[in-house]
Amino acid sequence: MNNTDLVFQSYGRCCRKDEFFVDFYDFFMSSSDAIRNRFVDTDMAAQRHLLRNGVMQIILVARGMSDRKLRDLGESHNRHNYDIKPEWYDLWEQSLLKTVRAHDPEWTPELQQAWREVLKPGIELIRGVY
Ligand code: HEM
Repeated sequence: MNNTDLVFQSYGRCCRKDEFFVDFYDFFMSSSDAIRNRFVDTDMAAQRHLLRNGVMQIILVARGMSDRKLRDLGESHNRHNYDIKPEWYDLWEQSLLKTVRAHDPEWTPELQQAWREVLKPGIELIRGVY
């Protein structure tokens, strides 16, 4: 199986429980006060659903799908809109990897490496629109 298949299946196992997204935002918001502050007025139940879709978009782009929706995400996150600093994406990635490790019963170090490789182009695209 290639990396995108491994990650697609791993994400399916993670998405079985909404706690995956609860834990992700707990990890992510505790990684920096600046990040926590960005979500003070956010409806987190809605945000968890939006993120479920956003991560799926990154995986689908790695599988060859159009990156138009990721470009739109780059636009909403850029300096003129949410103003999400480029360096925060490393914390985002670390929080996601930590959450996958905690939730996927089939986690291995190789699977983590596959996640890193699959996430990279999508994260770089969104970050690059800053
Ligand atoms: C909103 C995904 C990174 C902060 C959103 C939305 C999605 C999303 C799907 C909702 C759609 C939209 O408003 O455009 C992602 C993905 C990321 C990422 C896939 C990584 C590649 C970050 C980072 C931060 C952040 C690093 C840093 C704090 C926000 C905020 C909102 C948002 C503040 C708006 C919340 C609100 O409506 O109150 N993100 N995001 N995102 N994201 Fe991200």
